[in-house]
Amino acid sequence: MNFSTGKSVSVGETEILNYLPEIGMDRVREEIIRSLSARPPMIPAKFFYDERGSELFEEITGLEEYYPTRTEKRILASSGELAELPWHDLHIVELGSGDASKISLLLDHIPEKERKSVKYFPVDISQSAIGRSAEVLKKRFPEMQITGIVIDYFHQLGRIPVQGRKLICFFGSTIGNFDPREREQFMRMLGEIMRPGDLLLLGLDMVKEKEVLEKAYNDRQGVTAAFNKNILHVVNRLAGTQLNPDDFEHVAFFNEQERRIEMHLRAVREVTVRFGGKNTEVKIPAGETIHTENSYKFNRDDIRQNGCWAGLELRKVFTDEKGWFSLAWYAK
Ligand code: AVI
Repeated sequence: MNFSTGKSVSVGETEILNYLPEIGMDRVREEIIRSLSARPPMIPAKFFYDERGSELFEEITGLEEYYPTRTEKRILASSGELAELPWHDLHIVELGSGDASKISLLLDHIPEKERKSVKYFPVDISQSAIGRSAEVLKKRFPEMQITGIVIDYFHQLGRIPVQGRKLICFFGSTIGNFDPREREQFMRMLGEIMRPGDLLLLGLDMVKEKEVLEKAYNDRQGVTAAFNKNILHVVNRLAGTQLNPDDFEHVAFFNEQERRIEMHLRAVREVTVRFGGKNTEVKIPAGETIHTENSYKFNRDDIRQNGCWAGLELRKVFTDEKGWFSLAWYAK
C-alpha cells in the first residue's frame, strides 16, 4: 500500500495516517459569515463537533428517547448471518468510526480463525478519536492490524486504499445528515472506490411516527438542546462572534414533506451578530431561526436508490422488529 503523502503517527501499535489539508481560518470564517448572512440564516452541521459537541453527541446516543444508536447496535449484535460474510483477508473500512462500540459488535461475528487475516481501517476527521478507539480495540482484538486514516470523508474518499477486498461500514445513519444531492454525490463516490467483490454496510434511520422522531430530538433532559446550542460556542471561537446561547431556544421538528428532522435555533430576542475583525454585521430578528441540521429519514425505495447511485446490488436489509432502523448490505 502506498501512503506516500499522509503524515504518519503511531499510537501504541496503531499507525495513523493524517491527510487532512490545512484549512485557513479565513476560509472557515468566510463560510460562517456567508451562512449566517443567508436568508434564512444557517450554520453548517459540521461545526457541531468540537470536543464538547462530540461529548454531548455521545451522551445523546445513550438517551432513552434517542433510539437509533441502541437499535442499530441491537441489529448488529443479533444478525447472526453477518458471521457468514467472506471475512478471510477482508479490509474493514469504517467511515466516521467515532468510538469503537459498533465495530466491536461486528468484529464479534468474525470466526476466531479468521480474525488474524482481517485488517481494520477506522476513518474519521478526528485523529484523537481514532487513537482512543484503536486502543480499546487492540485490547479486545489484539491479533487485528489497525491503520487509522484521518480525512474529511466527504471530500477525500479517494484517500482510502483501494487494494484488498473491502467491507465499508457507514453506521449511525450519518448519511441522513447529507442533503439528497450530497447523498447522491457521496454514493457515486463510494461506488467509484469500490471494486467488484467489495461490500458496504450502511446504517439508515427509517421514517416512522412523527411523535417517536420528534421525541428523539427533543429529549426531556435537554441534552439535544445543549448539543444544538453548543454550535454557537464553536462559531464564537472560529468567527470571533459573541453569540449568547441564552438568546436562542432549541427547535426540532419532523418536516413530513422533506422526510427530515430539522434542528434550528430560534432567536428569543433580536440578535446582532458582529464578526471579529470585520465590518460586517447581521441582524437576526426575534422569532427567526438559524437552521443547524437536517436528519433525513429513509424508506425501502431510498435504500434501493442508494445502491443504484453507487452501482451496487442490494443483498439484504437487516432490521429490528419495529422496522425503525435498517442496516443495508450491498455488494459491488
Ligand atoms: C450524527 N447524526 C446521525 C445524528 C442524527 O441523528 O442526525 C446527529 C444528531 N443530531 C441531533 N441528535 C443527534
